[in-house]
Amino acid sequence: MQKSLFRKKSISKILQDSKDGYGDGEHAKLNKVLTVKDLTFMGIAAVIGAGIFSTIGSASFNGGPGVSILFVLTAITCGFSALCYAEFASRIPVAGSAYTYAYASFGELIAWIIGWDLLMEYAIGNIAVAISWSGYFVNLLKGFNINIPTYLTMDYMSAYKGNQQIIASGGSLEGISSNVQSAANAWTTAPSVGGLKIIADLPALLIVFLITALVYIGIKETKKATNAMVILKVLVVIAVIVIGFFYVTPANWHPFLPNGFSGMMKGVSGVFFAYIGFDAISTTAEECKNPQKDLPRGMIYSLIICTVLYILVSLVLTGMVNYSELQVADPLAFVFERVGLNNISYVISISAVIATASVLLIFQMGQPRIWMSMSRDGLLPKAFSRIHPKYKTPSFATIVTGFVVAIPALFMNLTEVTDLTSIGTLFAFVLVCAGVLLLPPDDQINDGKKRFRMPYINGKFIVPVIFISILIFFYQPILDLFNFSGGWEVIKHRLPLYLFFILFIAITVLSVLKNLSLIPVLGLLSCAYLMTELGYTNWLRFLIWLGLGLIIYFGYSYKNSKLNQET
Ligand code: ALA
Repeated sequence: MQKSLFRKKSISKILQDSKDGYGDGEHAKLNKVLTVKDLTFMGIAAVIGAGIFSTIGSASFNGGPGVSILFVLTAITCGFSALCYAEFASRIPVAGSAYTYAYASFGELIAWIIGWDLLMEYAIGNIAVAISWSGYFVNLLKGFNINIPTYLTMDYMSAYKGNQQIIASGGSLEGISSNVQSAANAWTTAPSVGGLKIIADLPALLIVFLITALVYIGIKETKKATNAMVILKVLVVIAVIVIGFFYVTPANWHPFLPNGFSGMMKGVSGVFFAYIGFDAISTTAEECKNPQKDLPRGMIYSLIICTVLYILVSLVLTGMVNYSELQVADPLAFVFERVGLNNISYVISISAVIATASVLLIFQMGQPRIWMSMSRDGLLPKAFSRIHPKYKTPSFATIVTGFVVAIPALFMNLTEVTDLTSIGTLFAFVLVCAGVLLLPPDDQINDGKKRFRMPYINGKFIVPVIFISILIFFYQPILDLFNFSGGWEVIKHRLPLYLFFILFIAITVLSVLKNLSLIPVLGLLSCAYLMTELGYTNWLRFLIWLGLGLIIYFGYSYKNSKLNQET
């Protein structure tokens, strides 16, 4: 049993399968149309979205101008992971992304776990993006005097909490934000059926269906739509930086870290969410003209471009107004309104709608391709790998993705979904970095092909030096970590950090013994550390999610796995 749980699919078998249509001759080939330029565009399309237009607000409110440091740190973390994704994508250029990579390096069980986990990045991530899209869209319509009833524009919980807040203030609206007021309005005006109030985010549902239809029709159409949207949103972000620069008051940058390191780290989920997406293009490997060279370049170029834009945006944003005013859902539009540039604020709102739609597009395209790979391996029913004879897209999987994203988008709350997406994606990055460490050394692969190669730097000495330096620099907080006087209520919140500590020691020892490659080690450790910042509740939800996945694996996938049937 143990052996069969970790049965691996060899890289040569994975490549062969993707070439010969998976043995059953049923699967038509996907269209190979994407170039490095398209991939870079798609990367940017997936990255710049709800994060920079929305979640940056709360991250800046908590971290102050120092949030720009968090953008740098997160970019470095993502950079290590991007190099690991690039190494995998160049060795295994097939559509399943991290799922396929895990099948080759860790075996079936972990591959399943990561495939299941990627649902959090793609499908749940898209729920967050759809909710954020809806927020901007509804505001835009208001500008045209089109008012959708508030109870059809938000989730049940937000409306309920808004109403509770007004009740708690004794009905007074003083000091109550407009967001809370409209949530309370949704609650009081919503019709009831059988005692249950009808409150749902209808625009979020509709945009997901619309985007799903586009993805269903074809990769070429998706590509064209993506390119147009990316140009527009990059131009708008550049305009924000350039125009905003003239309205910066340097005094707003002091103090740079008003709430210290811990305040800055509260923004991890929102800032990391802003970077998610560069990895999504690896799901298009079978639609690339030259995936082994172009995919790695596409990922790295898009990450570099977005990092530069993000750091500048965060500096401009926190320079234009005091950080304490930035706890809003539409921070970029807000700061321009605040300095009296209402027209620019309006243009930003329009582009936010477009930017988030393009993120939706990429993730809505990625999820079915991961399911397609899992289905080809027998871990999901065969229908998931059915390719549409005319449109050449994974048709059934695309439709299922549409429903899986659209229905929860009606009812779920933005912050919770963002946190879940971030923890799930970080876990995927951890596994991809760890997977690279398990790949056979590059010189054992003599395929004679020109492809991207991740530089090897021996971690034998560097990793222990980093470990010891951290022990010395963070001596006091580490000692505090092992003070158990607060009881379970305090200790339970530290569990992720204890786990991280054990992982760090194990990786340091392995680096010394096995000369581990430095880049994946740093990627693994930095992603694991960011996970520890996401809090006990999110860890609990994440573990429940994984548990659910394991039930499905042992109930269906283990038996139906093609590797199982072959052996
Ligand atoms: N990075 C993507 C966004 O910010 C998920 O919308």
